[in-house]
Amino acid sequence: MMAAAARAGAGAGAGAVVALLLLTMIAMPPPAEAHLQIGAYNETCPQAEEVVLKEMTAMVGKSPDLAGAVLRLFSVDCFVGGCEASILLDSTADSTAEKDAPLNEGVGGYEAVDAIKAKLDGACPGVVSCADTLALAARDSIRLSKGPFIPLPTGRRDGNRSVAADVALNSPAPGATIADIIALFATKFNLTAKDVAVLSGAHTIGKARCSAVSPRLYNFGGQKGASDPTLDASYTATLRGECKPGDNATLVNLDPTTPTVFDTSYYALVAGKRGLLSTDAALLLDPTTKAYVSSQANATSPDQFFADFAASFVAMSKLGALTHHNGEIRQACSKINPPSSAGGAAAARSRRHLTATAGLLATLAVALVL
Ligand code: HEM
Repeated sequence: MMAAAARAGAGAGAGAVVALLLLTMIAMPPPAEAHLQIGAYNETCPQAEEVVLKEMTAMVGKSPDLAGAVLRLFSVDCFVGGCEASILLDSTADSTAEKDAPLNEGVGGYEAVDAIKAKLDGACPGVVSCADTLALAARDSIRLSKGPFIPLPTGRRDGNRSVAADVALNSPAPGATIADIIALFATKFNLTAKDVAVLSGAHTIGKARCSAVSPRLYNFGGQKGASDPTLDASYTATLRGECKPGDNATLVNLDPTTPTVFDTSYYALVAGKRGLLSTDAALLLDPTTKAYVSSQANATSPDQFFADFAASFVAMSKLGALTHHNGEIRQACSKINPPSSAGGAAAARSRRHLTATAGLLATLAVALVL
Protein backbone atom coordinates (compact mmCIF):
# COMPACT_ATOMS: atom_id res chain seq x y z
CA MET A 1 0.00 0.00 0.00
CA MET A 2 2.73 2.37 1.06
CA ALA A 3 4.87 1.21 -1.85
CA ALA A 4 1.97 1.82 -4.24
CA ALA A 5 1.47 5.28 -2.78
CA ALA A 6 5.18 5.92 -3.12
CA ARG A 7 5.07 4.71 -6.74
CA ALA A 8 2.03 6.88 -7.39
CA GLY A 9 3.87 9.78 -5.75
CA ALA A 10 6.95 9.11 -7.88
CA GLY A 11 4.75 8.88 -10.99
CA ALA A 12 3.09 12.17 -10.20
CA GLY A 13 6.54 13.66 -9.51
CA ALA A 14 7.86 12.48 -12.89
CA GLY A 15 4.68 13.73 -14.55
CA ALA A 16 5.13 17.09 -12.91
CA VAL A 17 8.72 17.29 -14.17
CA VAL A 18 7.61 16.42 -17.72
CA ALA A 19 4.76 18.91 -17.45
CA LEU A 20 7.16 21.57 -16.26
CA LEU A 21 9.51 20.82 -19.14
CA LEU A 22 6.67 21.05 -21.66
CA LEU A 23 5.40 24.28 -20.19
CA THR A 24 8.94 25.70 -20.27
CA MET A 25 9.19 24.74 -23.94
CA ILE A 26 5.95 26.57 -24.65
CA ALA A 27 7.14 29.70 -22.88
CA MET A 28 10.57 29.73 -24.54
CA PRO A 29 11.10 31.64 -27.78
CA PRO A 30 12.34 29.33 -30.55
CA PRO A 31 16.15 29.22 -30.77
CA ALA A 32 16.85 31.75 -33.50
CA GLU A 33 20.34 30.40 -34.16
CA ALA A 34 19.00 27.11 -35.41
CA HIS A 35 17.35 28.84 -38.34
CA LEU A 36 19.79 31.62 -39.18
CA GLN A 37 22.34 30.45 -41.68
CA ILE A 38 24.93 31.79 -44.07
CA GLY A 39 23.34 32.12 -47.49
CA ALA A 40 19.74 31.61 -46.35
CA TYR A 41 18.57 33.17 -49.65
CA ASN A 42 20.79 31.00 -51.89
CA GLU A 43 17.75 29.15 -53.26
CA THR A 44 15.02 31.79 -52.99
CA CYS A 45 16.92 34.91 -54.00
CA PRO A 46 20.50 34.05 -54.93
CA GLN A 47 21.34 37.62 -55.88
CA ALA A 48 20.16 39.14 -52.56
CA GLU A 49 23.56 39.85 -51.00
CA GLU A 50 24.91 41.13 -54.31
CA VAL A 51 21.97 43.57 -54.64
CA VAL A 52 22.54 44.93 -51.12
CA LEU A 53 26.26 45.44 -51.73
CA LYS A 54 25.65 47.11 -55.09
CA GLU A 55 23.11 49.55 -53.63
CA MET A 56 25.19 50.29 -50.55
CA THR A 57 28.29 50.88 -52.70
CA ALA A 58 26.40 53.42 -54.82
CA MET A 59 24.78 55.17 -51.86
CA VAL A 60 27.88 55.33 -49.64
CA GLY A 61 29.84 56.54 -52.70
CA LYS A 62 27.45 59.51 -52.91
CA SER A 63 26.99 60.04 -49.14
CA PRO A 64 29.91 58.62 -47.12
CA ASP A 65 28.10 59.43 -43.84
CA LEU A 66 25.58 56.73 -44.64
CA ALA A 67 27.97 53.94 -43.64
CA GLY A 68 28.03 55.06 -40.00
CA ALA A 69 24.31 55.83 -39.96
CA VAL A 70 23.31 52.37 -41.21
CA LEU A 71 25.71 50.57 -38.88
CA ARG A 72 24.24 52.41 -35.91
CA LEU A 73 20.69 51.85 -37.17
CA PHE A 74 21.34 48.11 -37.05
CA SER A 75 22.73 48.21 -33.50
CA VAL A 76 19.77 50.17 -32.16
CA ASP A 77 17.43 47.72 -33.86
CA CYS A 78 19.13 44.70 -32.32
CA PHE A 79 19.32 46.12 -28.80
CA VAL A 80 15.60 46.83 -28.57
CA GLY A 81 13.54 43.67 -29.02
CA GLY A 82 16.10 41.97 -31.25
CA CYS A 83 17.24 42.30 -34.86
CA GLU A 84 13.70 42.23 -36.28
CA ALA A 85 13.48 45.63 -37.99
CA SER A 86 11.30 47.17 -35.28
CA ILE A 87 13.36 50.37 -35.54
CA LEU A 88 12.09 50.81 -39.11
CA LEU A 89 8.38 50.86 -38.19
CA ASP A 90 6.60 54.21 -38.19
CA SER A 91 4.53 55.42 -35.26
CA THR A 92 0.80 54.87 -35.65
CA ALA A 93 -2.21 56.75 -34.33
CA ASP A 94 -2.23 54.35 -31.34
CA SER A 95 1.44 53.91 -30.60
CA THR A 96 4.71 55.85 -30.69
CA ALA A 97 7.36 53.70 -32.34
CA GLU A 98 11.01 53.15 -31.37
CA LYS A 99 12.24 55.49 -34.08
CA ASP A 100 10.43 58.39 -32.37
CA ALA A 101 11.91 57.70 -28.91
CA PRO A 102 14.04 60.61 -27.63
CA LEU A 103 17.18 58.44 -27.50
CA ASN A 104 16.83 57.67 -31.21
CA GLU A 105 16.57 61.28 -32.37
CA GLY A 106 19.92 61.22 -34.16
CA VAL A 107 19.42 57.82 -35.78
CA GLY A 108 19.23 57.81 -39.58
CA GLY A 109 19.66 55.68 -42.68
CA TYR A 110 15.99 54.66 -42.93
CA GLU A 111 15.59 55.76 -46.54
CA ALA A 112 18.65 53.77 -47.56
CA VAL A 113 17.12 50.57 -46.17
CA ASP A 114 13.82 51.32 -47.93
CA ALA A 115 15.63 51.86 -51.23
CA ILE A 116 17.58 48.60 -50.92
CA LYS A 117 14.46 46.68 -49.95
CA ALA A 118 12.69 48.07 -53.03
CA LYS A 119 15.53 46.77 -55.23
CA LEU A 120 15.38 43.38 -53.50
CA ASP A 121 11.64 43.18 -53.99
CA GLY A 122 12.16 44.07 -57.65
CA ALA A 123 14.51 41.09 -58.00
CA CYS A 124 12.68 38.62 -55.74
CA PRO A 125 9.27 39.94 -54.65
CA GLY A 126 8.41 39.41 -50.99
CA VAL A 127 11.37 37.17 -50.18
CA VAL A 128 13.98 39.16 -48.24
CA SER A 129 12.97 40.59 -44.86
CA CYS A 130 13.58 44.16 -43.77
CA ALA A 131 15.58 42.74 -40.84
CA ASP A 132 18.00 40.98 -43.20
CA THR A 133 18.11 43.98 -45.53
CA LEU A 134 19.26 46.12 -42.60
CA ALA A 135 21.65 43.46 -41.28
CA LEU A 136 23.33 42.99 -44.66
CA ALA A 137 23.49 46.75 -45.29
CA ALA A 138 25.19 47.23 -41.89
CA ARG A 139 27.61 44.42 -42.68
CA ASP A 140 28.42 46.14 -45.96
CA SER A 141 28.91 49.52 -44.22
CA ILE A 142 31.88 47.93 -42.49
CA ARG A 143 33.30 46.40 -45.65
CA LEU A 144 32.84 49.66 -47.61
CA SER A 145 34.75 51.52 -44.87
CA LYS A 146 37.76 49.25 -45.43
CA GLY A 147 36.84 47.05 -42.50
CA PRO A 148 36.50 43.28 -42.57
CA PHE A 149 34.09 41.34 -44.76
CA ILE A 150 31.87 39.54 -42.27
CA PRO A 151 30.04 36.42 -43.50
CA LEU A 152 26.61 37.00 -41.97
CA PRO A 153 23.95 34.39 -41.20
CA THR A 154 20.56 35.41 -42.62
CA GLY A 155 16.98 34.19 -42.39
CA ARG A 156 15.67 36.84 -39.99
CA ARG A 157 12.00 37.74 -40.27
CA ASP A 158 10.30 41.02 -39.37
CA GLY A 159 8.58 41.73 -36.07
CA ASN A 160 5.45 43.74 -35.47
CA ARG A 161 6.15 45.40 -32.11
CA SER A 162 7.80 48.82 -31.98
CA VAL A 163 7.16 50.79 -28.81
CA ALA A 164 9.11 53.94 -27.94
CA ALA A 165 9.02 53.12 -24.22
CA ASP A 166 11.07 49.95 -24.85
CA VAL A 167 14.06 52.00 -26.01
CA ALA A 168 15.31 53.50 -22.75
CA LEU A 169 14.83 50.17 -20.98
CA ASN A 170 17.15 48.36 -23.39
CA SER A 171 19.73 50.94 -24.45
CA PRO A 172 22.79 52.35 -22.71
CA ALA A 173 21.75 55.71 -21.26
CA PRO A 174 23.75 58.76 -22.41
CA GLY A 175 26.04 59.14 -19.34
CA ALA A 176 25.97 55.43 -18.47
CA THR A 177 28.89 54.13 -16.41
CA ILE A 178 30.95 51.27 -17.75
CA ALA A 179 29.46 49.05 -15.02
CA ASP A 180 25.96 49.94 -16.27
CA ILE A 181 26.87 49.12 -19.86
CA ILE A 182 28.58 45.84 -19.03
CA ALA A 183 25.61 44.83 -16.86
CA LEU A 184 23.13 45.76 -19.61
CA PHE A 185 25.06 43.78 -22.22
CA ALA A 186 25.31 40.77 -19.90
CA THR A 187 21.76 40.64 -18.63
CA LYS A 188 19.80 41.72 -21.70
CA PHE A 189 22.00 40.56 -24.55
CA ASN A 190 24.19 37.82 -23.09
CA LEU A 191 27.22 39.73 -24.38
CA THR A 192 30.50 40.05 -22.48
CA ALA A 193 32.65 42.97 -21.32
CA LYS A 194 34.97 42.12 -24.19
CA ASP A 195 32.01 42.44 -26.61
CA VAL A 196 31.39 45.92 -25.14
CA ALA A 197 34.97 46.94 -25.89
CA VAL A 198 34.96 45.33 -29.33
CA LEU A 199 31.56 46.64 -30.49
CA SER A 200 32.39 50.14 -29.23
CA GLY A 201 35.09 49.96 -31.91
CA ALA A 202 32.25 50.71 -34.38
CA HIS A 203 32.79 54.31 -33.27
CA THR A 204 35.83 54.27 -35.55
CA ILE A 205 33.42 55.60 -38.21
CA GLY A 206 30.49 57.96 -38.10
CA LYS A 207 29.40 61.06 -36.31
CA ALA A 208 27.71 62.25 -33.15
CA ARG A 209 25.63 65.33 -32.55
CA CYS A 210 27.10 68.04 -30.36
CA SER A 211 24.38 67.26 -27.82
CA ALA A 212 26.13 63.93 -27.18
CA VAL A 213 29.41 65.61 -26.17
CA SER A 214 28.43 69.09 -24.90
CA PRO A 215 27.99 68.05 -21.26
CA ARG A 216 31.67 67.01 -21.31
CA LEU A 217 32.67 70.42 -22.65
CA TYR A 218 30.52 72.91 -20.76
CA ASN A 219 28.60 71.31 -17.95
CA PHE A 220 30.61 68.44 -16.56
CA GLY A 221 29.07 66.86 -13.47
CA GLY A 222 26.29 69.43 -13.69
CA GLN A 223 28.78 72.25 -12.98
CA LYS A 224 28.34 75.20 -15.31
CA GLY A 225 31.50 75.93 -17.32
CA ALA A 226 33.31 72.77 -16.17
CA SER A 227 34.82 70.35 -18.67
CA ASP A 228 35.58 66.66 -18.24
CA PRO A 229 39.12 66.29 -16.87
CA THR A 230 39.39 62.85 -18.48
CA LEU A 231 39.11 64.49 -21.92
CA ASP A 232 42.44 65.67 -23.37
CA ALA A 233 42.65 69.47 -22.88
CA SER A 234 43.59 70.39 -26.44
CA TYR A 235 40.86 68.10 -27.81
CA THR A 236 38.40 69.81 -25.45
CA ALA A 237 39.42 73.16 -26.93
CA THR A 238 38.99 71.86 -30.50
CA LEU A 239 35.59 70.44 -29.67
CA ARG A 240 34.48 73.69 -28.03
CA GLY A 241 35.26 75.32 -31.38
CA GLU A 242 33.06 72.82 -33.20
CA CYS A 243 30.24 72.62 -30.67
CA LYS A 244 29.28 76.07 -29.40
CA PRO A 245 27.24 76.25 -26.19
CA GLY A 246 23.62 75.41 -26.87
CA ASP A 247 24.36 73.87 -30.27
CA ASN A 248 22.82 70.42 -30.20
CA ALA A 249 22.70 69.68 -33.89
CA THR A 250 26.17 70.08 -35.42
CA LEU A 251 27.80 66.74 -36.18
CA VAL A 252 31.34 65.88 -35.09
CA ASN A 253 33.44 62.89 -36.09
CA LEU A 254 33.66 60.09 -33.57
CA ASP A 255 37.17 59.31 -34.86
CA PRO A 256 38.68 62.53 -36.25
CA THR A 257 41.93 60.82 -37.35
CA THR A 258 40.30 58.52 -39.94
CA PRO A 259 36.55 59.31 -39.78
CA THR A 260 35.46 57.09 -42.65
CA VAL A 261 37.90 54.21 -42.20
CA PHE A 262 37.05 51.19 -40.08
CA ASP A 263 40.37 50.71 -38.26
CA THR A 264 41.96 50.57 -34.80
CA SER A 265 42.55 54.32 -34.51
CA TYR A 266 39.45 54.58 -32.28
CA TYR A 267 41.32 52.61 -29.62
CA ALA A 268 44.42 54.83 -29.89
CA LEU A 269 42.14 57.84 -29.40
CA VAL A 270 40.38 56.35 -26.38
CA ALA A 271 43.74 55.36 -24.83
CA GLY A 272 44.97 58.93 -25.40
CA LYS A 273 41.96 60.54 -23.62
CA ARG A 274 40.42 61.46 -26.96
CA GLY A 275 37.37 59.22 -26.98
CA LEU A 276 34.50 61.53 -27.99
CA LEU A 277 31.64 60.11 -25.94
CA SER A 278 31.78 59.68 -22.19
CA THR A 279 30.92 56.01 -22.80
CA ASP A 280 34.01 55.71 -25.04
CA ALA A 281 36.21 57.22 -22.33
CA ALA A 282 34.57 54.92 -19.78
CA LEU A 283 36.16 51.88 -21.45
CA LEU A 284 39.29 52.83 -19.51
CA LEU A 285 37.51 52.35 -16.19
CA ASP A 286 37.01 48.59 -16.24
CA PRO A 287 39.96 46.17 -16.29
CA THR A 288 38.64 44.00 -19.16
CA THR A 289 37.59 46.82 -21.47
CA LYS A 290 40.72 48.81 -20.60
CA ALA A 291 42.97 45.85 -21.45
CA TYR A 292 41.23 45.52 -24.83
CA VAL A 293 41.62 49.24 -25.57
CA SER A 294 45.34 49.07 -24.70
CA SER A 295 45.92 45.97 -26.80
CA GLN A 296 44.32 47.53 -29.88
CA ALA A 297 45.74 51.02 -29.34
CA ASN A 298 49.18 49.51 -29.79
CA ALA A 299 48.29 46.94 -32.45
CA THR A 300 50.50 46.92 -35.52
CA SER A 301 47.78 45.29 -37.63
CA PRO A 302 43.97 45.46 -37.50
CA ASP A 303 43.67 41.68 -37.90
CA GLN A 304 42.84 40.88 -34.29
CA PHE A 305 40.28 43.70 -34.05
CA PHE A 306 38.70 42.60 -37.32
CA ALA A 307 38.39 38.99 -36.13
CA ASP A 308 37.01 40.08 -32.75
CA PHE A 309 34.59 42.54 -34.34
CA ALA A 310 33.30 39.93 -36.77
CA ALA A 311 32.58 37.53 -33.89
CA SER A 312 30.87 40.14 -31.69
CA PHE A 313 28.93 41.59 -34.63
CA VAL A 314 27.56 38.17 -35.60
CA ALA A 315 26.59 37.55 -31.95
CA MET A 316 24.80 40.91 -31.86
CA SER A 317 23.11 40.19 -35.20
CA LYS A 318 21.47 37.09 -33.75
CA LEU A 319 19.82 38.86 -30.81
CA GLY A 320 16.12 38.05 -30.68
CA ALA A 321 16.05 37.15 -34.37
CA LEU A 322 12.65 35.89 -35.53
CA THR A 323 12.82 32.82 -37.72
CA HIS A 324 10.78 29.97 -39.12
CA HIS A 325 7.03 30.63 -38.49
CA ASN A 326 7.63 33.74 -36.40
CA GLY A 327 7.28 37.22 -37.83
CA GLU A 328 6.66 38.12 -41.43
CA ILE A 329 8.37 39.48 -44.53
CA ARG A 330 7.22 43.07 -44.53
CA GLN A 331 6.13 44.64 -47.78
CA ALA A 332 7.09 48.12 -46.62
CA CYS A 333 9.74 48.32 -43.92
CA SER A 334 7.92 51.18 -42.19
CA LYS A 335 4.61 49.31 -41.76
CA ILE A 336 3.48 45.90 -40.64
CA ASN A 337 1.67 44.02 -43.39
CA PRO A 338 -2.09 44.47 -43.65
CA PRO A 339 -3.90 41.36 -42.34
CA SER A 340 -5.36 40.67 -45.79
CA SER A 341 -1.92 40.44 -47.49
CA ALA A 342 -0.14 37.14 -48.16
CA GLY A 343 2.56 37.97 -45.60
CA GLY A 344 0.06 39.23 -43.05
CA ALA A 345 -2.14 36.19 -43.53
CA ALA A 346 0.88 33.89 -43.20
CA ALA A 347 1.90 35.63 -39.98
CA ALA A 348 -1.65 35.30 -38.61
CA ARG A 349 -1.70 31.61 -39.63
CA SER A 350 1.58 31.01 -37.86
CA ARG A 351 0.28 32.78 -34.74
CA ARG A 352 -2.83 30.53 -34.80
CA HIS A 353 -0.61 27.49 -35.34
CA LEU A 354 1.58 28.42 -32.36
CA THR A 355 -1.43 29.02 -30.14
CA ALA A 356 -2.91 25.65 -31.14
CA THR A 357 0.42 23.87 -30.49
CA ALA A 358 0.76 25.56 -27.12
CA GLY A 359 -2.78 24.50 -26.21
CA LEU A 360 -2.09 20.90 -27.21
CA LEU A 361 1.15 20.75 -25.20
CA ALA A 362 -0.52 22.27 -22.16
CA THR A 363 -3.31 19.67 -22.34
CA LEU A 364 -0.70 16.90 -22.63
CA ALA A 365 1.18 18.27 -19.65
CA VAL A 366 -1.94 18.36 -17.48
CA ALA A 367 -2.88 14.82 -18.57
CA LEU A 368 0.57 13.57 -17.56
CA VAL A 369 0.32 15.15 -14.11
CA LEU A 370 -3.08 13.58 -13.52
C1 HEM B 1 28.37 50.37 -26.03
C2 HEM B 1 27.26 51.00 -26.11
C3 HEM B 1 27.05 52.13 -27.06
C4 HEM B 1 26.78 53.42 -26.74
C5 HEM B 1 26.63 54.01 -25.35
C6 HEM B 1 26.68 54.15 -27.98
C7 HEM B 1 26.38 55.48 -28.06
C8 HEM B 1 26.38 56.23 -29.22
C9 HEM B 1 26.05 57.62 -29.30
C10 HEM B 1 25.61 58.50 -28.13
C11 HEM B 1 26.21 58.00 -30.59
C12 HEM B 1 25.99 59.41 -31.15
C13 HEM B 1 24.52 59.59 -31.36
C14 HEM B 1 24.06 60.96 -31.74
O1 HEM B 1 24.76 61.93 -31.59
O2 HEM B 1 22.92 61.06 -32.18
C15 HEM B 1 26.62 56.85 -31.33
C16 HEM B 1 26.90 56.83 -32.66
C17 HEM B 1 27.26 55.70 -33.35
N1 HEM B 1 27.27 54.41 -32.86
FE1 HEM B 1 27.16 53.87 -30.94
N2 HEM B 1 26.88 53.30 -29.02
C18 HEM B 1 27.09 52.05 -28.52
C19 HEM B 1 27.27 50.90 -29.22
C20 HEM B 1 27.34 50.85 -30.59
C21 HEM B 1 27.38 49.64 -31.36
C22 HEM B 1 27.29 48.23 -30.79
C23 HEM B 1 27.50 50.00 -32.66
C24 HEM B 1 27.55 49.13 -33.90
C25 HEM B 1 28.04 47.91 -33.92
C26 HEM B 1 27.54 51.44 -32.71
C27 HEM B 1 27.71 52.20 -33.83
C28 HEM B 1 27.64 53.57 -33.87
C29 HEM B 1 27.93 54.36 -35.07
C30 HEM B 1 28.43 53.82 -36.39
C31 HEM B 1 27.67 55.70 -34.74
C32 HEM B 1 27.73 56.89 -35.68
C33 HEM B 1 26.36 57.12 -36.27
C34 HEM B 1 26.32 58.09 -37.43
O3 HEM B 1 27.34 58.38 -38.04
O4 HEM B 1 25.19 58.54 -37.77
N3 HEM B 1 27.42 51.92 -31.44
N4 HEM B 1 26.70 55.77 -30.48
